[in-house]
Amino acid sequence: MKKVYVIGTGMTKFGKLEKTGRELAIEAANDAILESGINVRDIEATYVSNAFGIGEEQLHMGPIINGSLGIPEIPSLSIESACSGGSAAFNQAYIALSGGYYDAALVVGYEKLSMNRTPENTKYFAMASDYWYEGMNGVTFPGLYALMASAHMNRYGTTEEMLGSVSIKNHMNGSYNSKAHLQKAIDMDTYLKSPVVASPLKLYDACPFSDGAAAIVLVNEDFNIDRPEKIEVLASARAGSMATLQDREELTGIPGARIATEKALKVSGLELKDITFVEVHDCFTIAEIMALEDIGFFPRGEGGRASLDGLTQFDGKLPVNSSGGLKAKGHPISATGIAQIVEIHDQMLYKVDSHRQVSDPHIGLTHNVGATGGSVSINIFKRSR
Ligand SMILES: CC(C)(COP(=O)(O)OP(=O)(O)OC[C@H]1O[C@@H](n2cnc3c(N)ncnc32)[C@H](O)[C@@H]1OP(=O)(O)O)[C@@H](O)C(=O)NCCC(=O)NCCS
Repeated sequence: MKKVYVIGTGMTKFGKLEKTGRELAIEAANDAILESGINVRDIEATYVSNAFGIGEEQLHMGPIINGSLGIPEIPSLSIESACSGGSAAFNQAYIALSGGYYDAALVVGYEKLSMNRTPENTKYFAMASDYWYEGMNGVTFPGLYALMASAHMNRYGTTEEMLGSVSIKNHMNGSYNSKAHLQKAIDMDTYLKSPVVASPLKLYDACPFSDGAAAIVLVNEDFNIDRPEKIEVLASARAGSMATLQDREELTGIPGARIATEKALKVSGLELKDITFVEVHDCFTIAEIMALEDIGFFPRGEGGRASLDGLTQFDGKLPVNSSGGLKAKGHPISATGIAQIVEIHDQMLYKVDSHRQVSDPHIGLTHNVGATGGSVSINIFKRSR
């Protein structure tokens, strides 16, 4: 396998935005190419992820992006994998580059949701559950994650304050991220008094619905790049779980996350103790706690306590979601998995606000979940000189 490097990233502001999905996707793509410094004509393929283009009556955005970049003749692949679409697109590009089929590729993820109201988006999102058993019977994503939160609380004694500590940390990090959707710090009182969305989850347990786009330029070792520091992809692994919660043996974790982690560690030759910071999929606060336990950073049932004790703050033992995570940075579905990689890249190059810069951004991991874990991606990156 050939070595693969991230050499350019682009990310729009996340939030309720005026721009169309098309404008956002093209903006992020242009920024990534500009930062990479390569000639756009060297890009051999694009991988474009989007889940809800139908809301703007625009599917198949790849050729539109390619055309706007002046490279209409190259192939594009459109990818949907619920909330893990961005990392699925990244994974496809990685496979093509590490296998030597292409030497340079562009990965773009984008979403435009703010033209819909919350009930419409909630119903639409539920179509990414096992609709026959879940969405059609009225279960929403806040509802599904509330089931997992209840199970975790009952089994391990995870408390509201533990969930709240995840939210407070991510809102604090997001307040120092100029591209975050929700740039405001909150305290425990605000968290505890926020309205219930799906018991036990409250407003400040949930990510918002966001518009936004993120993009990455990837090259392999055959592409001649000369720069002092490189962000190398050490592993890009994907796995799955039974789509329906009722078909799982337990609700306190996501099986696919454990399988993808094992694969990624094996390929990279690393141990968990080598990872110095992570971006995990905190669509709800309980998801961050489960992610840290699924990956294995903390024993089962101890993720909440670790968060409450401050171990996951940007200056803690294991910095988690220094970007603000989905909770505060926002969650434009198909952009999320790519935006996580943008954060790893920017941290490694010391490009983020000093209030959330981690002290040793040497080896970073991203964890991106589709729906309740039917699809999961784990990627590992290393800064090398
Ligand atoms: C939590 C939720 C129900 C709030 O929706 P809402 O009440 O319609 O919120 P609105 O969009 O009308 O925004 C109202 C205010 O709340 C804020 N807000 C919205 N969502 C928020 C969130 N998740 N956290 C904190 N604040 C939020 C908005 O910024 C806005 O603030 P402002 O009045 O100061 O501008 C909605 O964001 C939600 O369903 N989130 C989960 C999304 C989801 O399921 N994603 C898939 C994950 S698998």
